[in-house]
Amino acid sequence: MLVNQAKGLISIDNLNVLTSIVGEANVLVDEESLLHYGHDETEKLQYYPEIVIKPGSTQEVADILRLCNEHKIPVTPRGAGTGLSGGALPHLGGVLLSTERFNKILTIDERNLQVTTEPGVITEVLQNAVKEKGLFYPPDPSSKGSCFIGGNIAENSGGPKAVKYGVVKDYVLNLELVLPSGEIIWTGANVLKNSTGYNLTQLIVGSEGTLGIVTKIVLKLIPFPKHDLLMLVPFSTLENASAAVSAIFRAGFVPSALELIEIDALMIVSKMVDSTAVPVNDSIAGHLIIEVDGNNQDVLMSEMEAIAELLTQFDAGEIFFADDAQQKAELWKLRRRAAEAVKLNGYTIEEDTVVPRAELPALIKGVKALGVQHGFKAVCYGHAGDGNLHIRINHPTIKNSHGNAEMTGILKALFELVKSLGGTISGEHGIGLIQKPYMHTVFDDASLQLMRGIKKTFDPNNILNAGKIFD
Ligand code: LAC
Ligand code: ZN
Repeated sequence: MLVNQAKGLISIDNLNVLTSIVGEANVLVDEESLLHYGHDETEKLQYYPEIVIKPGSTQEVADILRLCNEHKIPVTPRGAGTGLSGGALPHLGGVLLSTERFNKILTIDERNLQVTTEPGVITEVLQNAVKEKGLFYPPDPSSKGSCFIGGNIAENSGGPKAVKYGVVKDYVLNLELVLPSGEIIWTGANVLKNSTGYNLTQLIVGSEGTLGIVTKIVLKLIPFPKHDLLMLVPFSTLENASAAVSAIFRAGFVPSALELIEIDALMIVSKMVDSTAVPVNDSIAGHLIIEVDGNNQDVLMSEMEAIAELLTQFDAGEIFFADDAQQKAELWKLRRRAAEAVKLNGYTIEEDTVVPRAELPALIKGVKALGVQHGFKAVCYGHAGDGNLHIRINHPTIKNSHGNAEMTGILKALFELVKSLGGTISGEHGIGLIQKPYMHTVFDDASLQLMRGIKKTFDPNNILNAGKIFD
């Protein structure tokens, strides 16, 4: 077996032991695999692991970690590789541990409205499986058709439904976790309330694979809402569109999605997917996508009408109501594929800022001003109802923020603005590799020292996803 020994962290003896743990078919060292597993969706970054290993059981994960811990071999856990902050990038070489063989939904407990699943299940597959039983697992990142539920837990993902239903953390009840030492624990219990000691479950959610590797997940489910309505509302300025967002909540509505998409993003994605669903013209600066859901269609109709009426105060243009499932799917496709489309069009750097929602107009204004000042184009879209704005940057020469001093300076200025508005640097994509230079913008030394202390307690040899979140 050939080994890419570029970094020389894995001896032949250790490679043989690792191979004996998972079987030869589940160890990859060929160039093509190393290339594939060496990048995710983050910017244009590529690293090479020394080997890719695909364990098939919790015990195998434990055996791998025990060996790597003993020999201080870096381990990078990876789900589907759809991350946007570089959490799964093997920047130190070593072992890339893929959870792709953990692809089974274990039990759907209809009595208790819970599901127990392995981490390598695609989020949408899980959603569809519980939907067949009339149940709903709401968190729905844009990549739901390809991302893994385990990655969603690592990043505490969100998505459009978060505005009404909450994010991943609100659904995780209990986790089976393999510690870097190779010990296997459960973090909590399969219960809806738990005030038993420190909340290890919630500590692991969003810890980006730095504290342990999740091998089983117990999630809370809710009944599936019977109806939803969707509308697309154009605005002539982003200021009006974003100001309307907080007005909707102040008026007492809780939409099941409230998304913003700037016109440039909509035009780019429409072209990419060859859609003419949304007529666009020069007088439109952006749209709000507004969805309401529930069990009573008449109530939803009157809610939508009342929201539409409210939006006239913000100079909204002609509203497009999605009439049937096909039109709804088309609109959601345009929104969900926006990130991919703009990235292909040169907007390679993505930020995941989040501010209190009434501060959105100030954030957008600030972003545009930074663009003028520093000579880049910025396009905005995202979960406006949560104040969570994705900002994509197209710089004429800089394509990666990671390792670029000029772009790091620009992003520092952006995050200072975000902080001054009461926000923070990531709402749902995590810190991973590329956002760590900005952690001290929002945390003081004492907070960062506490986080480092937690990392040290779980992983004293710093083998597991080291150099992610902080150095
Ligand atoms: C989205 C992803 C990028 O909202 O979070 O499209
Ligand atoms: Zn998003």
